[in-house]
Amino acid sequence: MTQDELKALVGQAALQYVTPGEIVGVGTGSTVNKFIEALATLKDRVPGAVSSSEASTARLKAIGIPVLEANAVETIGVYIDGADEIDGQGHMIKGGGAALTREKIVAAQSRRFVCIADESKLVATLGAFPLPVEVIPMATARVIRQFAALGGQARVRLKDGVPLVTDNGQHIVDVTGLKISDPLGFESEVNQWPGVVTVGVFAHQKASVCLLGTAEGVRTLS
Ligand code: A5P
Repeated sequence: MTQDELKALVGQAALQYVTPGEIVGVGTGSTVNKFIEALATLKDRVPGAVSSSEASTARLKAIGIPVLEANAVETIGVYIDGADEIDGQGHMIKGGGAALTREKIVAAQSRRFVCIADESKLVATLGAFPLPVEVIPMATARVIRQFAALGGQARVRLKDGVPLVTDNGQHIVDVTGLKISDPLGFESEVNQWPGVVTVGVFAHQKASVCLLGTAEGVRTLS
């Protein structure tokens, strides 16, 4: 099976976690795009969605699902999203698509986080994928120095030769060279650095279930 087919497989499998009549939280990325395609078949039973990015919002609207403001909704039943890396405990690196801040907000508002990913995303220890960190532009140089002190090499993410600007008007710093053996402690520490909006380690908002696409079918980790 191709990676695209594995993504479609888990996107479809995630439908079983969507409860008719409940608001659904929707992440961002190529795997979630497959989920949104599958969600079209349930659209008459989904009263609305809270979206984590402008990109997912456009796709949800295109299939006729109302998109609600996060502030207008108290609790979301389930949040479905992909990951750049996930370990066996449900800790993740996210933000490859630059949507990490809104993803963390919607995940925090949801009772359950169902991660959908192809099996290449499963790792023993987080850190091989460059860690995305959303940072207020005036703090990027300082944050880069702070990562260097931890042994990481950080650089500002570029798009078309200039710093990428997120949906929130901020920049992204990507960090390589880290081995994140204590995701919860690491997330708590980096969250305290001035200028950091969101670190792409999801340990406080970890996945409760992970649907992994494999050549043998969907493997469920919980
Ligand atoms: C978006 O910011 C990310 O957190 C995505 O969820 C993550 O990058 C996974 O994306 P793919 O499903 O495209 O691999």
